Amino acid sequence: MTSLAAVDRASLIATRRDIHQHPELGFEETRTAALISERLRGLGLSVKTGVGKTGVVGLKENRGRKEDRCVLLRADMDALPIDEISAVPYRSQQPGTMHACGHDGHVAIGLEVARRLAPLELGGSVKFAFQPAEEVSNGAQAMIRDGVLETPHVDAAFGIHLWNDLPVGTVGVMAGPVMASVDQFEIDIVGRGGHAAAPHQTIDPVLVAAHVITALQSLVSRRRDPLSEAVVSVTEVHAGRAFNVIPDRAELRGTVRTFGGSFFEDAPRLVEETAQGVAAAFGARAVVRYRRLSAPLINNEQLSALMRDVAADLIGGSNVRAGVRTMGGEDMAYFLEKVPGCFAFVGSAPRGTGRAAPHHSPTFDIDEESLVIGAELLTQTAIRYLA
Ligand code: NI
Repeated sequence: MTSLAAVDRASLIATRRDIHQHPELGFEETRTAALISERLRGLGLSVKTGVGKTGVVGLKENRGRKEDRCVLLRADMDALPIDEISAVPYRSQQPGTMHACGHDGHVAIGLEVARRLAPLELGGSVKFAFQPAEEVSNGAQAMIRDGVLETPHVDAAFGIHLWNDLPVGTVGVMAGPVMASVDQFEIDIVGRGGHAAAPHQTIDPVLVAAHVITALQSLVSRRRDPLSEAVVSVTEVHAGRAFNVIPDRAELRGTVRTFGGSFFEDAPRLVEETAQGVAAAFGARAVVRYRRLSAPLINNEQLSALMRDVAADLIGGSNVRAGVRTMGGEDMAYFLEKVPGCFAFVGSAPRGTGRAAPHHSPTFDIDEESLVIGAELLTQTAIRYLA
C-alpha cells in the first residue's frame, strides 16, 4: 500500500472535480483539451493537440535511445447528454451535459500519472493519449487515423475504466475479451396504411414489427453457439400517430453485442435476413441498415498478467478480481486491435451507500479513492512494462 502515498491526492481530486463541473460532449472537449495541454507542457512533455479533432497527446521521450519501447496510456475525456440531478458541490455547471461515466476521473488520473512519470528515468518512452468521443465510439479511430500509434511507434497500450459495479479498493483484470463489440441496426418496415377497422385492405407494419422483434430474439437462442455470449436488444419502436389509423411504416432500432466469434461475423446477415424474411411473409418489406460501432475489446495475456501483478502488489491479491467483463462497449478496443495491451476495471462504487448509481445515470458518482488507485496502477504498470 505504500506507493499509494506517492499520489498527489488533493490535486487529483481537485482536477477531477474541475472537469466534472465542466463536462463536454464528444469532439467538443476544447476546454478539457486546453487544460490537459497546459498541464502536460508544464511537466516538460512534448504536446500535440488536434489529434483526432480534440484529442491531446503528450510524449515523454527517452532521447537518443530509439530502440527503446514506447508505451501508450489512454484516457478518454468526453461526457454524456444527461442532466445531473445530484446536489454535490462539484455538480455539472453545464445543463444537459454530465460526466456520468467517470471519464472526468480518467483525465485526472492520466494527468497524475504524467506528473509521476515525467521526472523519472524510464526504460523507454511514454505516450499519454487523451482521447475524445469514446461515448460515440469513434474517438479512438480518429486518433489512430491521425497517427497516435506512430512516431514513435507504440509497442503496448494500457488503460483503465473507473467501475461502479466493483467496490472501491478492488480491481478487475483478466486476459481475453472483456468488453463487447457494439453494432447498431435500423430496420424500416414498409407496409401499406389504412383504416384500423379494415386491416384486410392494409399491410400492417405494426404487426410485422412485433414479429420482427420477436424473431430477432430467437437469433440469440437458436442461431448462436450457446457457449458464446451475445445480446440483441431492440431499443426503439416508432410507428403510427392515431388510434384508428394503420400507418404506412414502422421503424425499429437496436444493438447487437458479442465478444467476437462466429455470431459477431454472422450478425449483420442474420439481422437482415430475419427482418426481410419476416416482413416478406406478411407482404411487407424491410429495409435494414447495419453499422459496426466498436470491436470487442481483447486483453493480451502477458500484459494482463503484468497489470494483475501490479494491482496485487498495490491493493493485495485478494482484491484483484478475475472474471470482470461487460457487454458494454469501449473503443479502447481499436488501440488493442493494433497493439497488445490491457484495459482494467478500477472499482469506484462509493463506500457505504448501498447500491452505487449505475454508469450513464443522472446520479452517477464515484468514490474518489478510486482515482488514487487508478493513478498508481497505471503509473506502476508503465514503469514495470518499460523496466
Ligand atoms: Ni466510459
